[in-house]
Amino acid sequence: MYTTARSLVAHGKGILAADESEGTIKKRFDAVGVPSTEENRRAYREALFSTPGVEEHISGVILFDETIRQRSHDGVRFPELLASRGIIPGIKVDRGAKPLALSDTETVTEGLDGLRGRFEEYRGLGARFGKWRATYSVGDGRPSDYCVRANAQALARYAALCQEAGLVPIVEPEVLMDGSHTMEESARATARVLQALYDELYAQRVDLRATLLKPNMVLSGYSASERAGVTEVTEATLDVLYRHVPAAVPGIVFLSGGQSDEDATVHLNAMNAGGPHPWQLSFSYGRALQSAALRAWGGRQENLASAQRAFFHRARMNGAARTGVYSPAMEHEALVA
Ligand code: 13P
Repeated sequence: MYTTARSLVAHGKGILAADESEGTIKKRFDAVGVPSTEENRRAYREALFSTPGVEEHISGVILFDETIRQRSHDGVRFPELLASRGIIPGIKVDRGAKPLALSDTETVTEGLDGLRGRFEEYRGLGARFGKWRATYSVGDGRPSDYCVRANAQALARYAALCQEAGLVPIVEPEVLMDGSHTMEESARATARVLQALYDELYAQRVDLRATLLKPNMVLSGYSASERAGVTEVTEATLDVLYRHVPAAVPGIVFLSGGQSDEDATVHLNAMNAGGPHPWQLSFSYGRALQSAALRAWGGRQENLASAQRAFFHRARMNGAARTGVYSPAMEHEALVA
């Protein structure tokens, strides 16, 4: 597990989150006018997974339950296709954020029942790491201590079961950026969430050296009247991580959380440019790696090559941001080339 965790945050590489649930992928497909059929979902994921050269920048892919069972057009199971290219397959195992009992506004993530057996099956299907996401909103007293603790306990119970099965747990506590809160409020919420999470991981005997953290960056709420700039975001995010994430954790792989493709790259790059840090700082992006590719594909097989070019490009830009050598000029050079 130590080797897997370190390989997932290898130099110049990061993770593709392709684990959208059926509801989420339908939303993404609707936006580009593609019907969310099983075959369209399969063909789209195959386009991403078979992108020439992408293994130079992508260390692992998080799959959804349906996807880990699907095959390429010529019959190769997706986990095998990825592994044959040196990309580590992983699996999202949570069953989504559901209303928290006795709370009107907050959620707790479900999916612990039967999880030991599901891990065994996923391991057999080729998964080498797992993912569990909890979400927290900010504002009007949120996140409450109740929500923070309930989700930390569930994340730690998942992580312990994941390690028991020999898989590396990615723990994803996502402080949502919807709303008009300030960057400082986001920093306070993220700090509380991370502290509670590491308290629980310790209490539940999880070996931090075989885990990865997938947090939000500390940003202003998307509808805040004034939005913090790159330097502020970088400093605030690093400050919270330095205070609350133990150095035993080998890597921090950010989610993109609705940032634009370039913002997600610029922020990661700025954090790495200020390194070295106690942990590898990398990416586990969904939207910020896929949105250009999805638009280019648009459900048409004849657009496969341009979708793959778009995905490769974002993977390469974020690979450069891993070591702080990205510059926005690279976006342009790559498009001209
Ligand atoms: P985004 O990068 O689109 O936020 O997705 C990451 C993810 O895996 C959310 O669970």
